[in-house]
Amino acid sequence: MSIFLPPALTRRNLLAGMAGTVATALLPARHGLAGAPVVRDFALRAAPGRSPLLPAPRGRTPVWRYNDAVPGPEIRVRQGERLRIAVENRLEEETTVHWHGVRTPNAMDGVPQLTQPPIAPGETFLYEFDAVDAGTFWYHPHQRSFEQVGRGLYGPLIVEEAEPPRVDRDVTWVLDDWRLGEDAAIVDDFGGRHDMMHAGRIGNVVTINGRVARDFAVRRGERIRLRLINAANARIFALDFADHAPLVVALDGQPVTPHPPAGGRVVLGPAMRADLVLDCTGPVGSRATVVDRYYDGLEYGLVELAYGAEPLRDAAPEWPVALAANPLAEPDIGAAIRHEVVFSGGMMGRMVMEEMAGRMGGDRPGGGMMGGMMGRMRSMMGMMHGDGIWLINGVAAKGPVLEPMLTLDRGRSHVLAMTNATAWPHPIHLHGHSFRVVSRNGDPTPYREWQDTVLMAPRETVEIALVADNPGDWMFHCHILEHQMSGMMGVIRVA
Ligand code: C2O
Ligand code: CU
Repeated sequence: MSIFLPPALTRRNLLAGMAGTVATALLPARHGLAGAPVVRDFALRAAPGRSPLLPAPRGRTPVWRYNDAVPGPEIRVRQGERLRIAVENRLEEETTVHWHGVRTPNAMDGVPQLTQPPIAPGETFLYEFDAVDAGTFWYHPHQRSFEQVGRGLYGPLIVEEAEPPRVDRDVTWVLDDWRLGEDAAIVDDFGGRHDMMHAGRIGNVVTINGRVARDFAVRRGERIRLRLINAANARIFALDFADHAPLVVALDGQPVTPHPPAGGRVVLGPAMRADLVLDCTGPVGSRATVVDRYYDGLEYGLVELAYGAEPLRDAAPEWPVALAANPLAEPDIGAAIRHEVVFSGGMMGRMVMEEMAGRMGGDRPGGGMMGGMMGRMRSMMGMMHGDGIWLINGVAAKGPVLEPMLTLDRGRSHVLAMTNATAWPHPIHLHGHSFRVVSRNGDPTPYREWQDTVLMAPRETVEIALVADNPGDWMFHCHILEHQMSGMMGVIRVA
């Protein structure tokens, strides 16, 4: 496998790739003897360093990282425990840490200006929150994320179930991609205009747990719980496990009805996670390549499953795989308040808006909801001066956003009816809550999965539903970090 992937995507490749895309009440804390929750202390130090992303004899890459490693340390606790994490900033700029997918109190959410002052160089901030949900989460800065995450600041946060399902091994793969030059250094072009307007800053080197991976050793008969985390700024993955038949058992940390991935590919937009149960059913001594097929014509082998000479057992075990549900409040769709959200902008955005507005019924008068949408699209088109930045409901965020675009009545059920009126996929993330993905293009989803980040295909409509039960001001943004920085970001208030 060559280390460097083909260069930047062409538009043709990307569009072809997208066409084939399968759009695919809080728990009481775990109590110690005296009745207080078990508190687990951790320390993270963000600082520059050098990490061996590429195999020897290639040099080490200057990165920014937590506790001298990329990814940062795996923070692992039991459900119901309280985390207390001291974050020390040894960078030369301000930072914060956001606990992606964890339903923290608002003040612990790590969004600069909105929920806390940024942590100045040399300073330390203490985060403290309970692990209410079991699952696979991750942490990363929310300050200039497009560069801080892009330079290597991220790590996994695993919350174990009280009774985890039986497996032989519990493995975490943090996926990332990097844009490296021949000298193994990161190409210093963060925030470039082309990346902003198109698919984001996609790299040319993909790593698993901070290394270009070659082999992943397995044994015949082994059952692995594989926790995948996409920490890339912009790259979307669609992993094909060759002759294996993994089951998806959780998405974004939340249990889902165990099912084979649609189209045989595990699709992960930036920030998304999937927990797989992978039964190693290949022959002793064989090899199988895990291939990323998201971008058509740019498939590459991510890693090889390398079977050892000794089987662990002859057939896959029959242990149950389903996970116990987390304590999420179930939205009442019938009684939900409905909100329309339209994403627009980007390269070719105007064209897509016109096309979608046309499809919604042109000048048909009094077209009810569709007519309203149409009018909204019309006026948005009027406001778009050429292609470029990104907008949510006609507004492109500039600088830190403090004013809410939407207020959700606390304790009520809400449906966000979201339309991707752009030519690009977007992984849309809401802080502080998980939501059910209830429909895509009007069709009910088969699993009504809980997510905190939902990947929307170009021109797709997606409805999500949630109970607004976590008060505060929460970020709502695209997790392609270049889209986030160039407008695709807003605040949703729960009050
Ligand atoms: Cu993963 Cu707003 O963040
Ligand atoms: Cu986006």
